[in-house]
Amino acid sequence: MIKLILGLQFGDEGKGKITDFVSNEKSILVRYNGGTNAGHTVVTDKGKFKFHLLPAGSLRAKSVVLGNGMVIDPAAFIDELKEIQKENLSLDVRISSAACVVTDMHKYIDREQEKIRGDMKIGTTSHGIGPTYEEKYSRNSIRIGDLSDLGIIQRKLKLIREIRYSEIKNSPYMNDDELMKMAANLHRTWETIGKYVCRTESFLMDAVKKHEDMIFEGGHGSLLDIDFGTYPYVTSSNTISGAMHTGSGVSLRKVDSIIGVVKAYTSRVGEGPFPTELHGTEAEELRAAGGEYGTTTGRPRRVGWLDIPLLRYTAELNDIDQLAITKLDVLGSTKKIKICTSYGKNVINPINALLGKEKPEPQYIELDGWGNLSDEEIQQMIKRGYSSLPEKMRNYVETVEKLVNIPVSIISIGQIRGSTIQKN
Ligand code: IMP
Repeated sequence: MIKLILGLQFGDEGKGKITDFVSNEKSILVRYNGGTNAGHTVVTDKGKFKFHLLPAGSLRAKSVVLGNGMVIDPAAFIDELKEIQKENLSLDVRISSAACVVTDMHKYIDREQEKIRGDMKIGTTSHGIGPTYEEKYSRNSIRIGDLSDLGIIQRKLKLIREIRYSEIKNSPYMNDDELMKMAANLHRTWETIGKYVCRTESFLMDAVKKHEDMIFEGGHGSLLDIDFGTYPYVTSSNTISGAMHTGSGVSLRKVDSIIGVVKAYTSRVGEGPFPTELHGTEAEELRAAGGEYGTTTGRPRRVGWLDIPLLRYTAELNDIDQLAITKLDVLGSTKKIKICTSYGKNVINPINALLGKEKPEPQYIELDGWGNLSDEEIQQMIKRGYSSLPEKMRNYVETVEKLVNIPVSIISIGQIRGSTIQKN
């Protein structure tokens, strides 16, 4: 069975928890886009685990693959690997030789570009993601496979420095010693990661032929897609389903099921349009209840109501088969929960509204909250399944199902690993 799991909002939908839920000891988990700008937390009885590069189910999977579509900071990868190998001793790790390398120079450029943008800033994670993808498409990037060769790293760094002179003229990297130190540090990472590096597409194509259990996990959310998201307030990779093919080599036609992950409300980090955003006390309460602070940057996330026009758009774009709704427990304390069902009669295309071409006037329906659930109640509900959930919560789930017109198959009602329920 091959599953593709991706987020339908602005990222942070809780994809990690869903990957962890659907994976098992036989799974091969694959990431195919982005880098350490993604982040997810999994809470198990052993504690809280934060991942940025490795897929969330790595705690128990058979293999993990970081595909060619990713941009990888080798030092960050080594740190995560050390953590995960303490928990999953037999984990088989593969990293694509064609993935591009994020260097400290690219993180510097990311920060500088944000300064120059001024009030047009994107609010990036400063992890060097955009500049590394720029390098990839100008065909000057250091790729993971290059890390074995100090000479290539040195030549590429010098080339990048020359081409990007105006961006880095005031940086420490103008100094040759600094640049060569960075080259040596990058090369040194090969000692640790070299044994994991291969043409991952061959491994994955073989696994498809052998009918292995595979889960592809998309980074970020569909509305951060470089083409279909709220440009320019997006990340620098494609985040929709098609990116899986270009970012891993495995055709989308091989996928049995595409699961769209939706948080029960909406959140967004960084700049950009957000029609259902809440402000003031209402926002503070929801942010606190949901612990909405970035896993990657610690920034407070902007929060708001669920946005059906956008969900319909991203569900169609990704050709979603089933929905997973997360963080339903968080909404419990809210007495009246709103869902935006339309942007008003003047908006024809919701994404145009987000790009400022049409003016959204969000129309809401109101549903009753189901109250706070105690840990014990949650435990009981997990044991008894969907029908034991409070009626008002089921009403919320089934309303979303009807409005988006896609079945909800997975429901998450708590932070801990086990608090996820299969609906059908
Ligand atoms: P970048 O990906 O660091 O270039 O940041 C571009 C925008 O995407 C910023 O608004 C980030 O906050 C946002 N972003 C990137 N990755 C994620 C994610 O995984 N979750 C939420 N926001 C993200």
